[in-house]
Amino acid sequence: MRKLSALTFPPISLLSKLPRTSPLQRAWPSLNSTRGSPCSVISPAALVCAHAVLLWPFAGGDSGFGHGLAKHLDKLGFTVFAGVLDEKGSGAEELRRSCSKRLSVLQMDVTNPQQIKDAHSKVVEKVQDKGLWAVINNAGILGFPMDGELIPMADYKSCMAVNFFGAVEVTKTFLPLLRKSKGRLVNISSIGGVFPMQQLAAYSSSKAALTMFSSVMRQELSKWGVKVSVIQPGGFRTNIAGTSESWDQKEKVILDHLPPELQEDYGRDYILQQKNFLRGIGIFSTSDITPLIRDVEHAVSAKSPSAFYAPGKLTSLFLNIAFFFPTSFLDYFEKKQNIQKKGMPRALSTPK
Ligand SMILES: NC(=O)c1ccc[n+]([C@@H]2O[C@H](COP(=O)([O-])OP(=O)(O)OC[C@H]3O[C@@H](n4cnc5c(N)ncnc54)[C@H](OP(=O)(O)O)[C@@H]3O)[C@@H](O)[C@H]2O)c1
Repeated sequence: MRKLSALTFPPISLLSKLPRTSPLQRAWPSLNSTRGSPCSVISPAALVCAHAVLLWPFAGGDSGFGHGLAKHLDKLGFTVFAGVLDEKGSGAEELRRSCSKRLSVLQMDVTNPQQIKDAHSKVVEKVQDKGLWAVINNAGILGFPMDGELIPMADYKSCMAVNFFGAVEVTKTFLPLLRKSKGRLVNISSIGGVFPMQQLAAYSSSKAALTMFSSVMRQELSKWGVKVSVIQPGGFRTNIAGTSESWDQKEKVILDHLPPELQEDYGRDYILQQKNFLRGIGIFSTSDITPLIRDVEHAVSAKSPSAFYAPGKLTSLFLNIAFFFPTSFLDYFEKKQNIQKKGMPRALSTPK
């Protein structure tokens, strides 16, 4: 067992004691052997051999899951490496200002292999024989939600590049360190990776890929003692939806490049209604990310983390519907919701 510096030691009293369960486990408590009893936390001895050093590819803004998690884990006593898209951005500055000296901000665009390699070298140099305890893949983009036929190919590709290939490449780069520490891999996916929601074909496909990647890795890495958790948040109000200015810009680009046949069939009015989805995120979701933070903390620090977490209002309910209800029910529900929100394409609403 190697000695761990006091700086990297999270105060045990602060570790989460709440049981976190998957939708399946919530539906049938008997599936979860630890349910009902306080969840075990890692003992100090285990933490000592497990090198409580955390790397965190997270994003640069000054809100969002990444920012909140970096601050929270720093407060708990972890040594946090916060990967940011822009190390000179205001979010990175804010972190340097408000967190302890343990926290390092690292430039890391997850679509840039060289930046991932450079970040890896810096982490190796800093942690040396203390090792790395956890990798949390949090970077993500939503794109502009539209009917799948209208979403430009470039948006499908960029969602996959950040949300899936970025997470895979970061995971592969840091896995040797995690295998050594028998640590944790925590991937922030989405309820959208399981529950089909209209207008999210690009985003949700990339999150479904991430969820399945994580599940396969969970099985393969168990022989190395590495535990893998997937976080499937519901709707939280963060920067991910963008601003009304960014929606207008994106909408203009899409309209300018849409083939005339699609413009004709869908109609301008229907296309302009698409951004109601983004308005809805602002209205119906909460900015309190505490449930997400608690779940990630549990995934990183509990002795027996869950394979799946579903933070957010009604998230478990929706996941259970996706798992257990007939597809026809799900499709009927989604159809009703969407017709109310944005009507029908011109070609379907014009009487023949
Ligand atoms: N908010 C929700 O309701 C919700 C629900 C389900 C899942 N999620 C997932 O949770 C994660 C965090 O999202 P959030 O809600 O906290 O939104 P957010 O504040 O927009 O965080 C996402 C961050 O990813 C960063 N990013 C984008 N492209 C990147 C790249 N190429 N390399 C590195 N970082 C990059 C962005 O950096 P910049 O700020 O510098 O642009 C952004 O800060 C995402 O994976 C998202 O898909 C969110």
